Amino acid sequence: MKQVLITGATSGFGLEFTHYYASRGYHVHLLGRNNNKLLELRDKYEPLTTVNLYCIDLGIDDQLNHWLNEIKDVEFDIVINNAGFGDYGEFVDSDISHQEYMIKTNCIALTKIAHTTLQSMKRRNYGYLLNVGSLAGFMAGPMMSVYYATKNYVTTFTEGLAQELKGSGVHVSLLAPGPTRTSFNKNANTNESSLISVHKKGFQPLHSGDPKEVVLQGIKGLNRNQRIIIPYFQNKLLATLVKFVPRRLVTEAQMKIMEIRHGKREKAHE
Ligand SMILES: NC(=O)c1ccc[n+]([C@@H]2O[C@H](COP(=O)([O-])OP(=O)(O)OC[C@H]3O[C@@H](n4cnc5c(N)ncnc54)[C@H](OP(=O)(O)O)[C@@H]3O)[C@@H](O)[C@H]2O)c1
Repeated sequence: MKQVLITGATSGFGLEFTHYYASRGYHVHLLGRNNNKLLELRDKYEPLTTVNLYCIDLGIDDQLNHWLNEIKDVEFDIVINNAGFGDYGEFVDSDISHQEYMIKTNCIALTKIAHTTLQSMKRRNYGYLLNVGSLAGFMAGPMMSVYYATKNYVTTFTEGLAQELKGSGVHVSLLAPGPTRTSFNKNANTNESSLISVHKKGFQPLHSGDPKEVVLQGIKGLNRNQRIIIPYFQNKLLATLVKFVPRRLVTEAQMKIMEIRHGKREKAHE
């Protein structure tokens, strides 16, 4: 039975990855912070397959290191490095320990999970690693500066790793979704409803995607050994365009989009 590790399995993309693999009989190893949601997943999928649960906070060093030691001998065939979150607001006014926690979750944990799980993949000359980055990983993002920086890290780390392992039988891909309807925006303190009202006024910075479709495209790309997977044509186009526009202009445009969202958000609270 093939074994798959999915981090951030309790919500959004992670739920869809879990459903895809568990309903096809893969032995699923599911990680999240919310124990009740993990137990619900076990109740749902245990009739179909073997389920291991890990209630771990990846942003807490001791928990991460202890868990990595626990799983170091498991021979995962597929690893979905998906857990992550964002934080909206001006960096200077932010809680720096929260920014540090985000860097630990989005970058340090993702890197250490890759390092641990790739050991046995490399020995066996077989395996698939999918790092979940973002469209944010191709540009700077004022008002979410640290989040965008973490996703830029995920982009270049994944590209480098994929090149190192090329031809080894171990496949490494980046899934870089654009805005998608998950709990991400609520948790990042952005306001998705404000974005929708901006759409109504005819200003549509980005299409909001369906998590199931994003995950299906991610798995398809991973299986095809596609290095960078960007679901939806509009997002692919944007990722291409930003390569040709001066970075400063892209950053200024990003700031405008954030200001529109932010303005609406403040009005909603009046
Ligand atoms: N949705 C979007 O618009 C979008 C776009 C581009 C990229 N992404 C990326 O996609 C990934 C998944 O996000 P999502 O959209 O599915 O958001 P989501 O619905 O908020 O799910 C996030 C998942 O990550 C887990 N998680 C967060 N911090 C964690 C930590 N410190 N330790 C362990 N687990 C943690 C959460 O676990 P608990 O619920 O158990 O706490 C949850 O299962 C993230 O890396 C995000 O950056 C999202």
